[in-house]
Amino acid sequence: MVLSDLGVLMLEKLDTGVVHPARRYNYWLGGKDNFAADRESGDLLAQSYPAARIAARANRAFLQRAVGYLAGEAGIRQFLDIGTGLPTADNTHEVAQRIAPEARIVYADNDPMVMAHARALLTSTPEGLTRYLEEDLREPQRILDHPELTETLDLKQPVALMLVAIVHFLPDQAAARNVVQTLLDALPSGSYLTMSCATKDFLTPELAANWDETLRTGKSDVYPRDRAAFAEFFDGLEIVEPGIVAVSEWRPEPDAEENPAPVDASIFGAVARKP
Ligand SMILES: C[S@@+](CC[C@H](N)C(=O)[O-])C[C@H]1O[C@@H](n2cnc3c(N)ncnc32)[C@H](O)[C@@H]1O
Repeated sequence: MVLSDLGVLMLEKLDTGVVHPARRYNYWLGGKDNFAADRESGDLLAQSYPAARIAARANRAFLQRAVGYLAGEAGIRQFLDIGTGLPTADNTHEVAQRIAPEARIVYADNDPMVMAHARALLTSTPEGLTRYLEEDLREPQRILDHPELTETLDLKQPVALMLVAIVHFLPDQAAARNVVQTLLDALPSGSYLTMSCATKDFLTPELAANWDETLRTGKSDVYPRDRAAFAEFFDGLEIVEPGIVAVSEWRPEPDAEENPAPVDASIFGAVARKP
């Protein structure tokens, strides 16, 4: 990371000594937008879960396939992507606008470093629109009321809400469900929820115990959900095929070279429609 990359970033907001999920994920994906604290945490978590990098890539690929499905088969033209992550190739707007150039996307993330890279998220087609909000998922009403959101998305028309690899940073299930419900309540029938969330369900007892230990000792901030807890987020929604599966098993590309086994991509993924 070079300082010139940070542009107008308010440097005091960027605490490079503290691990941040966006930068650790960027490290696992092979990116360069991370600092020593993020790499140390990434390596430490990868010691207890050696497939962490494979899982990160499988999750990113799930996001892209889900956006392809939503913009294609489901005909969605508006996206609210919370927990954007640092821009990489094929961000939500790029995948969506390749299929539907008029697609409108609002991104939101709470990492100031994502803000510094927001211009990479704002490369909309002329027909469409992208906006970026520096906001926190834990304050969903602020996101919904944000003037840039209301100017960009028509909340009377269906919206695809993307919560991909973010809910597992909220430890409390009831609070997380409240947040998701608040967002869904603001969206009309025909909207979609796409979610992925880390799980221990596919892990060996040893790997699961390792994960518990990293949480117990404060080394991890990733709070897994079992299938039943993950399914709760979809109460009242129509889950599309193939249902709740490991992200690598959600509509994999038929010609994909390698499709990681669930134990190596231990993240649940699903897409569902609001009736
Ligand atoms: C693991 S990355 C996932 C990025 C992208 N959704 C994907 O799946 O490729 C998680 C992202 O969520 C963001 N994040 C974590 N907690 C958040 C919160 N409470 N509010 C907003 N963003 C948050 C992080 O900054 C990071 O960019």
